[in-house]
Amino acid sequence: MPPDRATSLLYELFSGLPRQGPGTAASTRRALGFVPDVGPRSRVLDVGCGTGAQTLVLADSSPAHIVAVDIHPPFIDALNRKAHELGIADRLEARVADMRRLDFADGSFDLIWCEGAIYNMGVEAGLRDWRRLLRRGGHVALTEVCWRKPEPPAACAAFWSREYPAIRDASALLEAIEACGYETVGRFSLPASAWWDDYYRPLQDNVTRFRERHHDSPRLTTTHHDSPRRTGRTGASGPLPAGNRHLACLLGILWLRVLRDPRPLNESQRARVESVHQSGATVSPV
Ligand SMILES: C[S@@+](CC[C@H](N)C(=O)[O-])C[C@H]1O[C@@H](n2cnc3c(N)ncnc32)[C@H](O)[C@@H]1O
Repeated sequence: MPPDRATSLLYELFSGLPRQGPGTAASTRRALGFVPDVGPRSRVLDVGCGTGAQTLVLADSSPAHIVAVDIHPPFIDALNRKAHELGIADRLEARVADMRRLDFADGSFDLIWCEGAIYNMGVEAGLRDWRRLLRRGGHVALTEVCWRKPEPPAACAAFWSREYPAIRDASALLEAIEACGYETVGRFSLPASAWWDDYYRPLQDNVTRFRERHHDSPRLTTTHHDSPRRTGRTGASGPLPAGNRHLACLLGILWLRVLRDPRPLNESQRARVESVHQSGATVSPV
C-alpha cells in the first residue's frame, strides 16, 4: 500500500541523511562488544534499519550474516545497493518488512539489533514479539529514548507527552525491559555527538530545504514553536532555529542497551505476546 501524504512528507524530510536516527559507529561497536561470540555462523536481524548506518557498522565489525528490515522500500533499496557496492551482499540482505509482523521462523537469529526504531511498536511489544525469533541465549540491542533527569524542562516534557507519551525515565525503562524476561548485559548513554553529527545537523539542512520546497504550504512549514532563530546548543558550530529547542533538550535522553534473552518463550507467554499485539495493552511480567 502506498504511504499516505503525511508519511510521504516525513520520508521526504528524512531522505538523503547519513542516518535516520541518533547514533554513532563507535556506539554501535561498543554495544556489539557486549555480545559474545559473534562469528561467521551468527545471524543478526537489524530491525528498522533505515538506510543502514548501523547495519554497515555491524557488517564491518563482525563476520555475521545480517538480515536488515525496514518498512520503507527506498531505504531497503539504498542499503542493498551499498551492500553490492561493498561486495558484502552475500552476507547482508535487506528486505522490506513490518517489524510488527516479522515472519521469520522461531529461533532464526542470535542477535536482534534495533537502533532508534522499537518505539514504532513499543518496547514491551517489540521485546516480547521478537523474542521467539531468538535462539537460546540470544541477545537484543536497542536504543530507546528515556528521561535522564527527574525534572526535564517543561517545554521538553510537553513536547514528549504529546509526541511519545510512552517515554519514561531510565529506571522505569530498565524495569519494563526486565519484566519482559530479559537480562541486561550492558547499557550506556549515547554521546551528544550521536544526536548532532550525523543526525540533527544534516536533518536541519533537510528541514531548511523542505521549507523552501513547500513554501506555498504554510501548514507544512511552520510549527507552534517557530520563532526567530537562536542558538540551539552551546559550542555548536552555528545557530539553530528555535524550533530545535526541543531537539536540543533531547541530547541526554537516549540509551543504548544490550540484553540477553535467557530462555525461549513457552506457550502461555506466546499467547500473551499475541494479546499485546491485538489490544495494545501492557501485560504483566513474563
Ligand atoms: C528513527 S529511524 C532509525 C533508522 C536507523 N536504525 C538509524 O538509526 O539510522 C526509524 C526507522 O524505522 C522504520 N520503521 C517505522 N515503522 C516501521 C515498521 N512498522 N516496520 C519496520 N520499520 C519501520 C522507519 O522507516 C525508519 O527507517
